[in-house]
This record gives sequence, structure tokens and C-alpha cells, in this order.
Amino acid sequence: MNTSELRNIAQRLMAGDKGLLAMDESTATCNKRFKDLDIPQTEEYRRKYRELIVTTPRLEECISGAILYDETIKQSTANEILFTDILIKKGIIPGIKVDGGAVPMPAFPGEKVTEGLDGLRNRLSAYYDMGARFAKWRAVIAIDNGIPTETCIKVNAGIMARYAALCQEAGLVPIVEPEVLMDGDHTLQSCAEVTQQVLHLVFNELYEQRVYLAGMILKPNMVLPGLNCPLQANADDIATATIECFLNCVPAAVPGIAFLSGGQPYALASERLNTMHTRFDDVLPWVLTFSFSRALQQPALEIWKGDDKNILAAQQALYHRAACNNAARRGAYSPDMETQQ
Ligand code: G3H
Repeated sequence: MNTSELRNIAQRLMAGDKGLLAMDESTATCNKRFKDLDIPQTEEYRRKYRELIVTTPRLEECISGAILYDETIKQSTANEILFTDILIKKGIIPGIKVDGGAVPMPAFPGEKVTEGLDGLRNRLSAYYDMGARFAKWRAVIAIDNGIPTETCIKVNAGIMARYAALCQEAGLVPIVEPEVLMDGDHTLQSCAEVTQQVLHLVFNELYEQRVYLAGMILKPNMVLPGLNCPLQANADDIATATIECFLNCVPAAVPGIAFLSGGQPYALASERLNTMHTRFDDVLPWVLTFSFSRALQQPALEIWKGDDKNILAAQQALYHRAACNNAARRGAYSPDMETQQ
């Protein structure tokens, strides 16, 4: 393991006021988002959409790394320039989603386990040769009656730590993404307790499997009440619950925490990240930034709708969301920015 190279990549990903752009939707997820907007669900339309993203002017001002999917990392622009080459030229580090998705966990109703360890060592080495310098693995934890079980969390944590160790062996910085889902009517407090339990078990496994903490990034959920919880929370409460939870569980050796958006409305995701910075910047031992998919891309996708004549407007919308989150990362976001495009 080349620790100094891993540390260097992790630090570059977390540098400036930038964040990560998750554009690693699986084919099924991307097609589902296209279907909702009547966009043809073909490889060519997925390629066109990803070309729109990677060629967005000035994206590199706000984005340090882009997480790609297996199909996307091999794709090129209409002019036959590999997406990875475009990103590298802009100074954006290419990353790759390597998990195989979450499937039902046998004998644990309502819980899931993420697959994808088989053949991972060889896939990581191939992705490194294609230019990837970091990877991502997502586990999902649901909150409902009697779940999550400790067994489900432990199984996912063990698998994630093995993934992270294999990434570091291959020279890729692992992004470890244990996502506590927003679905359900659970309270903010319940999300805080589950997130804390998950992070403790994940970091325990990372330690047991000798993962080099200075060469990884954590990609967690914010601590939020469930979408159907009658008692919703304001940005202050969310920032306090989230930061208290992470200060309890995430070692200071970890260079950065990059949140997923998880289906939050995009402006709220920016406001909540911003509040964490305005309230807690002086006590944070790690960089705190974003690694959003929907909360960066959704307005652009809705403008594009599969039509070439909308590309420039869609790129402006993507840049705007990236700039809002870039501002949130330094506590300089204001909801007024939403009307200044
Ligand atoms: O794995 C999930 C993505 O990387 C983050 O997506 O921001 O839409 O939750 P999201």
C-alpha cells in the first residue's frame, strides 16, 4: 500500500471549497430517472447525458472528483474523447462505483446487503489503468420496526472494510458510504442513534481490517428525520444532530466527510451543509463537503429532457447547483442564491 499516494489523492479530493459529483447511477437507476422525464432509456442517451455533465464549463471550480459508473468510465464524447480524459484535463479526479448494488439479506426481512466483492481485486486494477484514483461502495440501512439489526449492520460493515482494504492495495482511495435511508416515519433522534451505531461498527471493522484512515473518505447521510415523520426539523437541529453524531464516531485521522443527498430537496441539502459550517467550523477535525447526485443533477436533468437544444441551459443549472454547494462548504450559501442564475 502506498500510503503517501493515498493520502495525497484524498487530500486533493477534499481541497479548496470543492466537493464530489456523483454521476454513478447504475443503468437501472439512470433509466428510471430518464423514464420519469420521457427521455429514451438507451445507452446513447445515457452517454449524451454524461457528456453534458463532464463538459459543463467551469465545473472544475466547484468539483474535485466525479464518481463514474462502469458503463460511463469507458464512454467518450461525440468527438471521441474519453470522459476520463476530459475530467483529468479539467483537474477533476475520476472515481468509480464498484459495488454491485444492495440485495435482500436472507432471513432478515426488510434489510439489505451490498454485493460485489467477487473479482473486485481484478476490477480495481483495471479501473486504476483506466484512470480512476478513487472508488465508492454504498451500503443501505433502513429504519423500521425492529430494524436495523446489529447483524445487518455488521455484515455490511465487514464487507465495506474488505472493499476499502482492496481499494487501498490497488492505489484507489475508498469512499465508504453507509447510508441510513430517509424512508419512513422515524424521528431525528432515531436517525441519530442508528447513524451512530452504524458509524461505530463501520469504523471498528475498518480498524480491524487495517484500513489506512488518512487514505479514505466517509460518505454518510446527514442525520435527518424520516420523510414521513410528523415532526420535521430545521437546519439548526439537523446540523447539531449531525455534527454531534460524527464528532462521537469519526476519527480525526479521516481527511474528509462528503455527504450524500439521499433525496433531500436540493436547496435544503445546500442550506443544511451551510449551517453545519456556519455553526461548527471551528470544531471540525475533518473537511466537511458534499458528494451529491440528485441534489446536484436533478434541475439539469429536468431542463435537458433528452433534447440537444437544452444542453447549455442544463449545464448552467448544473454549474449553479455546484456553485451553491461550493458556497455552502465555506458557510457562504444563502437561499437568495437560488434565484441568481
Ligand atoms: O450512492 C448514492 C450517490 O452516490 C449519492 O446520491 O446524492 O442522490 O443520494 P444522492
